[in-house]
Amino acid sequence: MTPGARVAAAIEVLDSYLSGTPVEQALTGWARSHRFAGSKDRAAIRDHVFDAVRRLASAQALGGGTDGRAVMIGLLRGQGLDPEELFTGEGHAPSVLSDTEASVSADMTRAQSLDCPDWLLTEFDRSLGADADAVLDSLRNRAPVFVRANLAKCDRERAATILAEDGIETRPSVLASSALEVIENPRKIKTSRAFLEGYVELQDAASQAVIEALNIQPGMRVLDYCAGGGGKALAMAALGADVTAHDLSWERMKDIPARAARAGVSIKRVRHEDLKNLGGFDLVLADAPCSGSGSWRRAPHGKWLLTPEKLAGIQSAQWDILRAMPSCLTPGGQMAYATCSVLKSENQDQVQAFLSDCDNYKMSSERQFTPLDGGDGFYVSQLMHNSGK
Ligand SMILES: C[S@@+](CC[C@H](N)C(=O)[O-])C[C@H]1O[C@@H](n2cnc3c(N)ncnc32)[C@H](O)[C@@H]1O
Repeated sequence: MTPGARVAAAIEVLDSYLSGTPVEQALTGWARSHRFAGSKDRAAIRDHVFDAVRRLASAQALGGGTDGRAVMIGLLRGQGLDPEELFTGEGHAPSVLSDTEASVSADMTRAQSLDCPDWLLTEFDRSLGADADAVLDSLRNRAPVFVRANLAKCDRERAATILAEDGIETRPSVLASSALEVIENPRKIKTSRAFLEGYVELQDAASQAVIEALNIQPGMRVLDYCAGGGGKALAMAALGADVTAHDLSWERMKDIPARAARAGVSIKRVRHEDLKNLGGFDLVLADAPCSGSGSWRRAPHGKWLLTPEKLAGIQSAQWDILRAMPSCLTPGGQMAYATCSVLKSENQDQVQAFLSDCDNYKMSSERQFTPLDGGDGFYVSQLMHNSGK
């Protein structure tokens, strides 16, 4: 496919997305009905579509409309490119720009130019102060790809060497001692020997830094209260912790046994209804459900789907989780509360409310990572009972 034809395909996918189809489904639907497209074409179309979703508000303003065509015109303009070079009408490229399309002059609001939903701007300002614009701007760009060296099998240097044998170039990340940033051939990771034989896992560097902040010791009894697919459970097991994974949804944990086997570690799973029979954990980590605002570079559709009502529902779930954690601890044990959000209302406010409510707990550490640190935005704080060491 020519570059223009790829833009035309991205317009089709964006129209489907803008009419309500989830973005992954819109991409798969297009690929199924255009089987001639090769993997490089599909990857290029996906990049256009995700770039456009990250910058939807500014692209619509710069394109002078709300449909896929306007979005692609505006996206290219916002990237400093001339849309007329791709909108040629030749072959399968989109038709040439009309006079109206060629003469759009956008006067953007601050929310539009930062691609932030209007209603969230105040909360970004309150949460990030002077960094708000820089963080929002970083969320308009693609995220770097990171892997975690599986310390149960190798160190970071050895993981980098094994990846390099498959042409995957990396460099160490300053965020975590297990983290490698992939600088060449990230799309090859899942078929590389390093991945298939469990030397590395795909995991954001800030997510790895959250685990490093917990000071995991071999043999420590850890409950991963919101384990999901097990990214953090695997990282803790690699450090020698005795990990039990729990999630409200058993289905979400279905891949953990295979991932643990590949990594050469063991992780127990517990059903929600059986959790009350356990207890006595040295550490309970809740990587709580959240807005995902720290990872909107990877999942940009999340920012346009979030509403004040949905955020309130998420905060209520976070509160219930925080209140449920203490009953799983051994006396003197620690709680760790984490989210991949940069919003105070999901992080500091929740923890402060917990500490006000449970005055027998105190905070022992707190850290907010933002994309300006290099990885996703993440929050983590550790809480311990006043009687603890
Ligand atoms: C941010 S994800 C966890 C990601 C995971 N820790 C990882 O590193 O791959 C949050 C998880 O919390 C789960 N969850 C939502 N409400 C919950 C609750 N009340 N109790 C336990 N888990 C819950 C969701 O099903 C989801 O899998």
